[in-house]
Amino acid sequence: MTEIASYTSSLARSRASQANENRPDVFVLAGREWDLLVGVFAPVHSPTTAVAMELLGLPEARDPDRDQDPDTGLAFRGDGTFLEIGAGTGVIAVSAALAGCARVVATDISAQAVRNTAMNADRHGVADRLVSLHGDLFDAVGDEERFDTVYWHSNYVLAPDEYEYQADHERAYVDPGYRAHRRYLAEAPGLLTEGGTVLLQFSERGDLGLLRRLAEECGRTLRPVRRRDLTEGDETVELVLYEVCMKN
Ligand SMILES: C[S@@+](CC[C@H](N)C(=O)[O-])C[C@H]1O[C@@H](n2cnc3c(N)ncnc32)[C@H](O)[C@@H]1O
Repeated sequence: MTEIASYTSSLARSRASQANENRPDVFVLAGREWDLLVGVFAPVHSPTTAVAMELLGLPEARDPDRDQDPDTGLAFRGDGTFLEIGAGTGVIAVSAALAGCARVVATDISAQAVRNTAMNADRHGVADRLVSLHGDLFDAVGDEERFDTVYWHSNYVLAPDEYEYQADHERAYVDPGYRAHRRYLAEAPGLLTEGGTVLLQFSERGDLGLLRRLAEECGRTLRPVRRRDLTEGDETVELVLYEVCMKN
């Protein structure tokens, strides 16, 4: 395993973010203020959220006339329905609602993240069209609900299958045995409206070879939509937004 893909380094990043004395209650991202609760993935300590928003086209997403550029406009249907798995503070889910999505459902396995997303939906006046639910992946989503976009900025670092989480916060960083990723690849397409899109925000820190094998086993392929390099300390990693497609 290379150093950038090391799960122990990711767990160390999780601990450092939690213990950081400068962890704020409120942070600024994409020109807005956001509440940050204890125990929730902190976009202020991990630039991956900002890059995830950029890859989705969200910072530029407020003017629909600018959505024509394939590399900077919205990477999803901006007036449709949007399901975000693992919403954390809710920055992406709230921004999708602000960009024009008619309905946004946000889920997280961390109860504290679910509260945090609801707080930020209130803060930005979109609580009427955003619901924040507690559950493992899609478990809290109604059986009949379908979405134009299903999205996850995942915990893309592979941990050993037998690893047991020591804190909820670690769930934002590593996925033991890629069990959650396998289930996302298998089940997310079943939640789409006709013509809908499943998106996965992944990173060079993840095990792309294993992800592709799991996709193959589930009858899926991965199509890179957009990519960006991100420098963190003395490491540069590539972040990639993939579309999960059904194999023909
Ligand atoms: C990398 S963080 C991204 C958070 C937020 N979307 C952002 O971009 O700042 C991954 C999120 O997925 C959540 N998560 C991990 N496993 C999950 C699961 N099985 N079901 C739902 N959420 C999960 C974590 O709690 C965490 O909030």
